[in-house]
Amino acid sequence: KEKQDMRPSKQRLLVVANRLPVSAVRQGHESWNLEISAGGLVSALLGVKEFDTRWIGWAGVNVPDVIGQRTLTEALAEKRCIPVFLDEEIVNQYYNGYCNNILWPLFHYLGLPQEDRLATTRSFQSQFAAYKKANQMFADVVNKNYEEGDVVWCHDYHLMFLPQCLKEYNNKMKVGWFLHTPFPSSEIHRTLPSRSELLRSVLAADLVGFHTYDYARHFVSACTRILGLEGTPEGVEDQGRLTRVAAFPIGIDSDRFIRALELSQVQDHIKEFKERFAGRKVMLGVDRLDMIKGIPQKILAFEKFLEENPTWRDKVVLLQIAVPTRTDVPEYQKLTSQVHEIVGRINGRFGTLTAVPIHHLDRSLDFHALCALYAITDVALVTSLRDGMNLVSYEFVACQASKKGVLILSEFAGAAQSLGAGAILVNPWNITEVAASIGYALNMPANEREKRHYHNFMHVTTHTSQEWAATFVSELNDTIVEAQLRTRQ
Ligand code: G6P
Repeated sequence: KEKQDMRPSKQRLLVVANRLPVSAVRQGHESWNLEISAGGLVSALLGVKEFDTRWIGWAGVNVPDVIGQRTLTEALAEKRCIPVFLDEEIVNQYYNGYCNNILWPLFHYLGLPQEDRLATTRSFQSQFAAYKKANQMFADVVNKNYEEGDVVWCHDYHLMFLPQCLKEYNNKMKVGWFLHTPFPSSEIHRTLPSRSELLRSVLAADLVGFHTYDYARHFVSACTRILGLEGTPEGVEDQGRLTRVAAFPIGIDSDRFIRALELSQVQDHIKEFKERFAGRKVMLGVDRLDMIKGIPQKILAFEKFLEENPTWRDKVVLLQIAVPTRTDVPEYQKLTSQVHEIVGRINGRFGTLTAVPIHHLDRSLDFHALCALYAITDVALVTSLRDGMNLVSYEFVACQASKKGVLILSEFAGAAQSLGAGAILVNPWNITEVAASIGYALNMPANEREKRHYHNFMHVTTHTSQEWAATFVSELNDTIVEAQLRTRQ
């Protein structure tokens, strides 16, 4: 008992992200279910275990808080989640509008939407006002739940205004901010009408983190060129106050995937899939149905491969799992129809009475089926046009210990910097190159596959999400101690 009491208690970590790891999904009029949310941020942070973690975020729908026997707040509390309730108008302007129609495409080099570039100012400004308001609502909930000594870790482009709001509440709060998307070249960021306000607010944090060194460098350049501040090897300095800026490449909880492969449910799926696709090589894509994922480009490259390699036509199948996302944003609706049209055309062109070359699913798979699919795949295709990191590539590698399949990976995904030596890197815009890489991957000799797989497997199993979070938080603690020492000098 005594020993237990002497053990240092875990540090309290408040993870603040737009989306909670579970989302409330409506089931009929008055009931709802809590489902695991999709996306890299959630899949990485679920693996973080060494802190006493609480999540603060939006539960996905604006559910009235009292339904049936217990409130949503109570149900979420069991999962250590604290909801921020946003009304429909705010969700529309902040989440669908400013976050997903402006910041998301801009940070992925797709530019600002045309209509906002013209005289826009009204809709742009009202969306930005809603963004600030929503960030303030997150700050209020953080402030209510904050205890002295807590570390507050803010995540992603939804919450760039949060560090400033938090420091206004309490300048002593330890605040870190991490971006899960790319941070674009300063020349792209400077097109954003609210460019300076956002940068200044992020700089209120004590530590600012990115997936890659390039993104960190772009952020520092934006601060020096747009705000006229000084960039140092440590970060950005403003009148003697330093904001530390650094790269912290994320990872996954690789053990969770490796262990899952032993489960009977997963083994059953593996058997079923192997029988289903016997005699054919399996190629796999798993993406949220998002324009940054390059799904049309990937499918067109597969079409070109089939066109040029008639002998492969009945020997390979592409399984594309496209998880619906942000379905209220018109750009995403357009993309869905575009993808359906291309898939239909290719299946019409190369399908037979008994088989089609592309199985396209507009839905997510449960964890067990997903692990089984990763395990039986011969070639995974990750062709993002831009991607902060892309953890699907990591998950695939973690599940490939026996098969040693090939990863075709976009050079514009952050993961290209860590898995580049094991994967076949491609420019996803170059359909001819991707089609040729498909041929190369399908024909790759076993010894080359093994070598490439070994390289990636070592990386994925040693650079985990636990290690990522621990490094970020310990750096944040150190940054604050150093700042205190500096002010005492
Ligand atoms: C990316 C973002 C996350 C986001 C996820 C899912 O991974 O970096 O912040 O949660 O996509 O998107 P959604 O809009 O459904 O939260």
